[in-house]
Amino acid sequence: MKKWLFIILGASIIFYSCTSSNITVGPGKEIDPYHFTITKNVSVNNGCVASAHPLASEVGLAILKKGGNAFDAMIATQLALAVVHPAAGNLGGGGFTVARLANDSLLSLDYREMAPLKGGRNMYIDSAGNARTDWSQNGHLSAGVPGTVAGLFAEHQYAKLPFKTLIQPAIELAEKGIVLTKREADGLNSNKDDFIKYSTKPTAFVKNTAWKEGDTLYQPELAETLKRIRDNGAKGFYEGETAKLIVEEMQRGKGIMSLEDLKNYVCKPRKPVEFDYRGYHVVSMPPSSSGGIILGEMLKMIEPYPVSSYGFQTVKSVQLMIEAERRAYADRAEHLGDPDFWNVPQNILLSDAYLKKRMSDYDSTKSGVSANIKAGNVHESDQTTHISIIDKDGNMVAVTTTLNNSYGSRTVVGGAGFLLNDEMDDFSIKPGVPNMFGAIGGDANAIQPGKRMLSSMTPTLVLKDNKPFIVVGTPGGTTITTSVFQSIVNIVDFNMDANDAVNKPKFHHQWLPDTVSVERDFNEETVKQLKDMGYKLITLRAIGRTELIKILPDGTREAAADKRGDDSVSGY
Ligand code: GLY
Repeated sequence: MKKWLFIILGASIIFYSCTSSNITVGPGKEIDPYHFTITKNVSVNNGCVASAHPLASEVGLAILKKGGNAFDAMIATQLALAVVHPAAGNLGGGGFTVARLANDSLLSLDYREMAPLKGGRNMYIDSAGNARTDWSQNGHLSAGVPGTVAGLFAEHQYAKLPFKTLIQPAIELAEKGIVLTKREADGLNSNKDDFIKYSTKPTAFVKNTAWKEGDTLYQPELAETLKRIRDNGAKGFYEGETAKLIVEEMQRGKGIMSLEDLKNYVCKPRKPVEFDYRGYHVVSMPPSSSGGIILGEMLKMIEPYPVSSYGFQTVKSVQLMIEAERRAYADRAEHLGDPDFWNVPQNILLSDAYLKKRMSDYDSTKSGVSANIKAGNVHESDQTTHISIIDKDGNMVAVTTTLNNSYGSRTVVGGAGFLLNDEMDDFSIKPGVPNMFGAIGGDANAIQPGKRMLSSMTPTLVLKDNKPFIVVGTPGGTTITTSVFQSIVNIVDFNMDANDAVNKPKFHHQWLPDTVSVERDFNEETVKQLKDMGYKLITLRAIGRTELIKILPDGTREAAADKRGDDSVSGY
């Protein structure tokens, strides 16, 4: 039977033809992988899902309607993304979950990748003493021990439906195939040479001719891996056949990840970072992500200033926020790392006294200079994708998960059909040597066996009067935290709806390099005035792909998917 894909983007409708059958999410719930609509906004009364792909959001919604809670929907959406969004959705990466249960309790889960036991501080330094980012960013040696599957099972403690129900849509999407959007076809084509170079076996992502929009991608090996996880739980990934396939891939590609590394992997519950901003309570991810602490530093540094009276993206408000970003990212480079290996001075970094002192040299008339702004002295003994979900009962879950680069290491595990991350590059591979996002670091984020590399991922919740208000997060490397920062300021200080909070132009400063990045549709007058003050500006095509849900006082859930990608929302 002929099937058709509808992509509706603004006024344009694109049709593709292909043959296949629907996937089942449960009795009476079917999703047709060949008829999907990219929906950028919904306003609903019950539950909603915002993710990087319409099919993944549809899977999450179907699980909510089937009686699942926000955790059930999150697990099913993450697994679907591992199939339909191979650039970032993953089994071979890692991530973070921040959640608030309807009973008010908060939790965060750290399933960041870990350095293999055979890894070490100098593993990317060559015999001439040079840092080799080509080793930390590509292929087998760049992969950390994946955490995503452990994270999914940790989330499942809070879910209602059997895991096998939640994984079934992903299995069927992998087996029955998905139709590629233009963006996905282009992504696979531009990485074709790398897939061949960094994988040792043929992969589903490579075919003789170029991928076209509307082609169908079948992933039978990935379907078998998902079935092993369905049948054996986390052991279906970390032990047995899948682990064996990973280690064989490593051995063929001179990687160092071992069976012991995989068997030892654990997801760690962490205490979320919590702070107040202008009467709102913010809950975010602690280390091994820098996200929550850096977000807290930036928001609390600007809190004493009347930002709303400065006006949205006027030079006055933007310059203040840039200087807060500069100072927070200087602290990131020096003070943040895996808390199991490094004493992170979280309480000091988020204290009013410290942050007031941090802004004491702020000058509203001219550009700061990063060379003059070192990390604060704390006197004490561091391609991604985001999903935001709220259910009808008010359970809020924010998950950001990553392979690091787009398609990670571009190493596909032979016979298992999934990509491995290149997350090792998020360590400081040598003091002062920038990673792929330009971030530098030192001892706090140096490589040690079993350590988790510092992240910028910032899955975040905001509460008002102890009630759900915002669920937010984004991909974007080091720009993640500044995008979340600005999305929150857009709502709290400038009273924007979810759509504007996500889609208004963004800007970014990360201490080093000492430049301000702005999106190409950024206010031209503000750009000119910043240049006049001495800032160096560069223009970026896009910053982040933010998924945000805003909950209105009457309980309406306003969900927005970023215009910058194929991101899509579903709700009821
Ligand atoms: N790999 C990007 C991050 O974790 O920040």
